[in-house]
Amino acid sequence: QYVSDFAWSSATSAYQIEGGWNADGKGESIWDNFTHAGRSHNNETGDDACLSYYKYKDDVQLLRNLSVGYYRFSLSWPRIIPTGEINDGINQPGVDYYNNLIDELLANNIQPMVTLYHWDLPQALQDKYEGWLDQSGIIVKAFADYTDFCFKTYGDRVKFWITFNEPFITAQLGYGVAAFAPGHYSPGEGVYYAAHSIIKSHAQAYHIYNNTYRESQKGQIGITLNSNWADPMTRTDLEHVEASQRNLAFATGWFADPIFGTGDYPDIMRYNVSTFYLFPKLSKAEKLLNKGTSDFFGLNHYTSHLWLSSASTWLYQVPWGIRKLLIWIKRTYGDPVIYITENGISEHFSDGLDDDIRVNYYKNYINEVLKAIKEDDVNVKGYTAWSLMDNFEWAEGYSERFGLHWVNFTDPERTRIPKKSASYYRSLAGNHEFKSPRERDEFHYGTFPEGFKWSVSTSAYQVLTKIIVRFFCQNCNLCLKQIEGGWNVDGKGESIWDTFSHTPGKRANNETGDIACDSYHKVKEDVNLVKMLGVQQYRFSISWSRIFPDGTTSYVNQAGVDYYNSLIDSLLKIGVEPVVTLYHWDLPQALEDVGGLLNETVVDRFNEYADFCFKTFGNRVKFWITFNEPYVITWLGSPGEAPYQAAHNIIKAHAKAYRTYKKFYKGKQGGRIGMTMSTEWAEPKDPNNPSDVEAADRVIQSILGWFAHPIFKNGDYPEVVKKQVNERSQLQGTPSRLPVFTDAEKVEIAGTADFFAINGYTSRLVTYQDKSTWPPSYENDRDTHEEPIPGAIQATPDWLKIVPWGMRRLLNWLDREYGHPTVYITENGVGTSDATVDDQIRVNFYKAYINEALKAQQLDGVDLQGYTAWSLMD
Ligand SMILES: *[C@@H]1O[C@H](CO)[C@@H](O)[C@H](O)[C@H]1NC(C)=O
Ligand SMILES: *[C@@H]1O[C@H](CO)[C@@H](O)[C@H](O)[C@H]1NC(C)=O
Ligand SMILES: *[C@@H]1O[C@H](CO)[C@@H](O)[C@H](O)[C@H]1NC(C)=O
Ligand SMILES: *[C@@H]1O[C@H](CO)[C@@H](O)[C@H](O)[C@H]1NC(C)=O
Ligand SMILES: *[C@@H]1O[C@H](CO)[C@@H](O)[C@H](O)[C@H]1NC(C)=O
Ligand SMILES: *[C@@H]1O[C@H](CO)[C@@H](O)[C@H](O)[C@H]1NC(C)=O
Ligand SMILES: *[C@@H]1O[C@H](CO)[C@@H](O)[C@H](O)[C@H]1NC(C)=O
Ligand SMILES: *[C@@H]1O[C@H](CO)[C@@H](O)[C@H](O)[C@H]1NC(C)=O
Repeated sequence: QYVSDFAWSSATSAYQIEGGWNADGKGESIWDNFTHAGRSHNNETGDDACLSYYKYKDDVQLLRNLSVGYYRFSLSWPRIIPTGEINDGINQPGVDYYNNLIDELLANNIQPMVTLYHWDLPQALQDKYEGWLDQSGIIVKAFADYTDFCFKTYGDRVKFWITFNEPFITAQLGYGVAAFAPGHYSPGEGVYYAAHSIIKSHAQAYHIYNNTYRESQKGQIGITLNSNWADPMTRTDLEHVEASQRNLAFATGWFADPIFGTGDYPDIMRYNVSTFYLFPKLSKAEKLLNKGTSDFFGLNHYTSHLWLSSASTWLYQVPWGIRKLLIWIKRTYGDPVIYITENGISEHFSDGLDDDIRVNYYKNYINEVLKAIKEDDVNVKGYTAWSLMDNFEWAEGYSERFGLHWVNFTDPERTRIPKKSASYYRSLAGNHEFKSPRERDEFHYGTFPEGFKWSVSTSAYQVLTKIIVRFFCQNCNLCLKQIEGGWNVDGKGESIWDTFSHTPGKRANNETGDIACDSYHKVKEDVNLVKMLGVQQYRFSISWSRIFPDGTTSYVNQAGVDYYNSLIDSLLKIGVEPVVTLYHWDLPQALEDVGGLLNETVVDRFNEYADFCFKTFGNRVKFWITFNEPYVITWLGSPGEAPYQAAHNIIKAHAKAYRTYKKFYKGKQGGRIGMTMSTEWAEPKDPNNPSDVEAADRVIQSILGWFAHPIFKNGDYPEVVKKQVNERSQLQGTPSRLPVFTDAEKVEIAGTADFFAINGYTSRLVTYQDKSTWPPSYENDRDTHEEPIPGAIQATPDWLKIVPWGMRRLLNWLDREYGHPTVYITENGVGTSDATVDDQIRVNFYKAYINEALKAQQLDGVDLQGYTAWSLMD
């Protein structure tokens, strides 16, 4: 099992995927020139490659789907600076392209891991100065200017920089044996001089970042080296051992010693090479400049050789080699932080999606990485799978496929399709562990952390379980109860639930909450129950119409205020923190009479009510919830556009109250405020079927994302919700049912929660179902079909199937989706219909669900800080 902040990543490079080789003012690179001269397999080129210049949003969706937290990609220098020299000018569309890509990644909670040089040197620099062979300092200066520009332009968002990718390959294949661009043949000296200017350029870039940007941008910067493991053919033969050491020094030490070691080349190279060739020297000052210029050791590793052996093709699967290599790096370079920045395997000409060879490769190699971490204490912080998708494999053209996603290179759309390895990698990156599903669902013994908040809840106008309220279950035997009762005593105004339950025929048995648990008269008794449970918090709601009988400030019902004062004081006296919900569904009837939640004026009315509560109770209440489950409030309304309109006003009302609290109260009262959202876990019926996977995502986005996306992301509805509702409305010939937030509203809404609060009860299996011909409604708009999880125990309300593991998956999903928020479960519980106090089903329910919450907290690193049982009483 990996720790939760282990960085899972997947990688590509600019030339291999972008295409658009001369689009929008991009300059020519040495790889454009090289492939246009027919130097790659079949004369293939990266002119179009995967068309990622145009399809970067699709790429981000692939990444998101892989559950990775990072994406390693490279910037094309000539796309940003066409000639390579900044004084000749920059290419704004190229700059914008990377801005867009970075923003899109961050919007999806994927951190960019940016390589500044992945082999595509501007051709002009090659023509004018012989590229990396230049020893006059011009190339070093050009690279310094380029990187400086990138730090300045992107560094506010990019926190992980890699200067060079595999300089060994650039030097050896590009300037030595001419197999790669720029195709310069100079195996004796060229290679060493090319490496020399790369090392100096790297050091310059590092110091620019370290001196000018690190303090404000707080990122890290390093270099990625490739290294094969060289195992001595016979371990007892000293000559073989020395040969293997020599091999590692020449391949890896060449760059690693200057940067991670002494600042100079390995002795064995300096002595041995200079015997035959002119070997460049590093001055004392240069050595000082080199030393220590990488915050991490970026490692690309693919294979191992027996030294001296004769391997015909370069890539053999030798999983244990990576573990030995990691140990060697740890010992040789003083235990650096290591990120594996590439690892993967190719297949020749394979069109198969069933890439078991790649699944096995990843399984075995990653398992060796895990051993290196756990058994050998190697400081590996991240792992990157090469590659996100099939792409232009340099001199091999399109004949070798490395991707987790298959790309159709004959399709003008360059369609990407996940291979088996993609779902395998996702299972690792998503769960941080190698485990079979059975093991995953085993009971976990553990202890919640100090400071974890246990809580129990009710709401003012309440029922035995909220369940019946949701479904208006006509044939259930449960009776409607509430806790407060006193529906019209001491000047309380009527709420919509009073009206509703007083209308004959609306409820099973025509029962009402008129008296309910009579909590209005039983503060002492209720507080005693809370005390006996030993919880740290009690979550209850305030009845709006008990405070403002007609919903407005026109008059205050002092008796109602006194009731809540007494409840709050009694709780504080026994050391229990009040968690107060302002709106738990009982809108004053007087407001309903002028349109209720569909009337935009409700935003101001709610704000006035919230303001009064902050002012009156906020000296003692430090934990506020504006709305409880707006999804349920809105979705149970009429079909068509009403739910969308109600939700729109609720989000605005929430944001306004949050701003009021922040501006006038938070400073002196020091409390926190958020919203409690409905959730259910949606499990794809067939996890290997893309349309089921996407349908499941749509269910969660349309229930939770509807509210969480505006509040925790960008102030706007999830893209997928907008797309579905807009398309569906258009199809039905109506204007979009989904209202639009203005830019000012988005700014007002984004970021209006101090914690992420959810109520969670159940899970369902989801498949795609085309509902375009169904009547327009919130549920039909998402084109999904839901069904029970097979084998799940049925609780009393029809919709509540007991699926404990759904809780863990849900917590993980929202942790990733919303960037590791602080989470409180503000409701979780089960309904039963029997009158017995011997409620074993509830005992089992809590045991299983809370255990899954514990796993999410301890094994997955979700920042879960509290759990609330629903409910204190029937
Ligand atoms: C490669 O670059 C050289 C120098 O700029 C140019 O003369 C040549 O035409 C280019 N080759 C191709 C195939 O573009
Ligand atoms: C590559 O292009 C060259 C020149 O255009 C041509 O002579 C050669 O046959 C091509 N090779 C292949 C494999 O298409
Ligand atoms: C290579 O270097 C080693 C010292 O590290 C030295 O013993 C050996 O003689 C050198 N070989 C050549 C050919 O220079
Ligand atoms: C990076 O900057 C810090 C703070 O100025 C300095 O202490 C450190 O030595 C620098 N690192 C290198 C490798 O120069
Ligand atoms: C690739 O795309 C081409 C052109 O659109 C199409 O004819 C072909 O069926 C696709 N191949 C696969 C395996 O999807
Ligand atoms: C509820 O009230 C309606 C109207 O008064 C009546 O017809 C119905 O029988 C009542 N139902 C029950 C279960 O009492
Ligand atoms: C909205 O509420 C206001 C009172 O707050 C009322 O004057 C107005 O008529 C209502 N609008 C609608 C469409 O009901
Ligand atoms: C998400 O993952 C599934 C399963 O691997 C895949 O089939 C589907 O196409 C992916 N969605 C996107 C947008 O790539």
